[in-house]
Order: sequence, then C-alpha cells, then structure tokens
Amino acid sequence: MSTNLNIQFLGHNAWFLRIDDFRILIDPFLTHSPVAAISAEEAEADLILVSHGHGDHFGDTLSIAKRTGATVAAIAEIAGYVEKQGVKKTIAMNLGGGIDFAFGRVQMVHALHSSTLPDGSPGGSSAGFLLTVQDGHVLYFACDTGLFGDMALLAEKKIDYAFLPIGDLFTMGPEEALNAVKLLRPRIAVPCHYGTWPPIDQDPEIWKKRVESETETKVRILRPGQVLGDE
Ligand code: NI
Ligand code: MN
Repeated sequence: MSTNLNIQFLGHNAWFLRIDDFRILIDPFLTHSPVAAISAEEAEADLILVSHGHGDHFGDTLSIAKRTGATVAAIAEIAGYVEKQGVKKTIAMNLGGGIDFAFGRVQMVHALHSSTLPDGSPGGSSAGFLLTVQDGHVLYFACDTGLFGDMALLAEKKIDYAFLPIGDLFTMGPEEALNAVKLLRPRIAVPCHYGTWPPIDQDPEIWKKRVESETETKVRILRPGQVLGDE
C-alpha cells in the first residue's frame, strides 16, 4: 500500500512528519530555537516523539501536547514526567522496544548521549527512533548521539532516510557522522543539529561532498522549513 509521506525540517533536530493524515512531531524545540521554522503555537500533532530530556529536544513538548491533545511517546522516565505535568496521553517506551500504529511502527533505538529534563529530573537514557512506514519506507532519526558500532545492525533494516547530527561538541561531528553513514548505509542521509548556535556551526556542503565521494549514500541538505524532496 502506498503512503503519502512528507518530512519537514523545523530546525535543529525538530521534524514534522505527515504520513497520510497522521501528524508526528519529533523533538519540538521551537520557542527558544534560533532557527525554528514555525512557532510552538502553530505546531500540530497527533503524536510527539521525544528523544531525550535536554531542552533543545524536549522543547515545547508540554505546551503542544496540552493544546493539541497529542500523545507523547518517550522513554519511561520522560513519559512519566510528562504525565505528571498534566499531559493526558503518553506512551512509555524503552530502548529496543517498539509500538505499532496504523501508519507503521515506531521503535526506540539506542543513542550514545546523556539525558536530564529541564528542571533537573532524570531523563533516563537518550534514544533515537526508527520508523517503519506501512509502505516500507524506513526512517532513522539518530537524534543526539555519538558514533556507536551497533549502527551496523541498523543497516539490516535497509534505511531509506537517516537523519544524523553533524554539529560536533554535543553529538557526532562531520567525521563521526561520515563513519555513521558507512555503518548505516542509508539510501539518503540528511544532516541536522548544526548551525543552531556558533559552537555547532558546520558546512553541510563539505560533508555532502565527502559522504557522496566515499559512500553510495546521497545527501540532502534541508534549510529549516524545507520539506524533503522539495529542496
Ligand atoms: Ni542532548
Ligand atoms: Mn541536542
């Protein structure tokens, strides 16, 4: 069955996905993001996926979930926190586990990173997300992570799109992200988590040239607000 899949970059590691009529927000850091493509008030969602507790990912999760009634799916510690803050619908997950939706499957995967919520509450482990859309498309959102060898196992999922941080300092930099592409072997890689602030400035065009000369993967560079395929 073919599906209408639309992936919009909202800046940093914030993503808006539309899979047919189902709307997913990932790491909706908008209000305090210097590069946000939309405001938190404009955001719409049925499901919000939160990779970890850091402010530049947890972002506007609470206000958007309360206003829209979206379900928040996150690691158990964050799901519990969000519920305590008054969000009605939450899904507590943990690393390696997945859940089936009408549009496809969301699996929480390993990320090599720390996690604390904005008020200092423990955020459990950091995570990434692997989405398998019912039409067969496989999307990997690495979120904040360092390089780890088990990315080679994720390659077995035959990833179509890998969304990878290249900013360095807090996550993989360009060199490590290139190595991640070599392990993940996605059809397309999309760099993110760079250029938000000066400490994580990178030139994605240089990264694109290196990836495309050293691997079979094609790189698509999105500016905040752009939709994959429209760039
Ligand atoms: Ni982080
Ligand atoms: Mn981050």
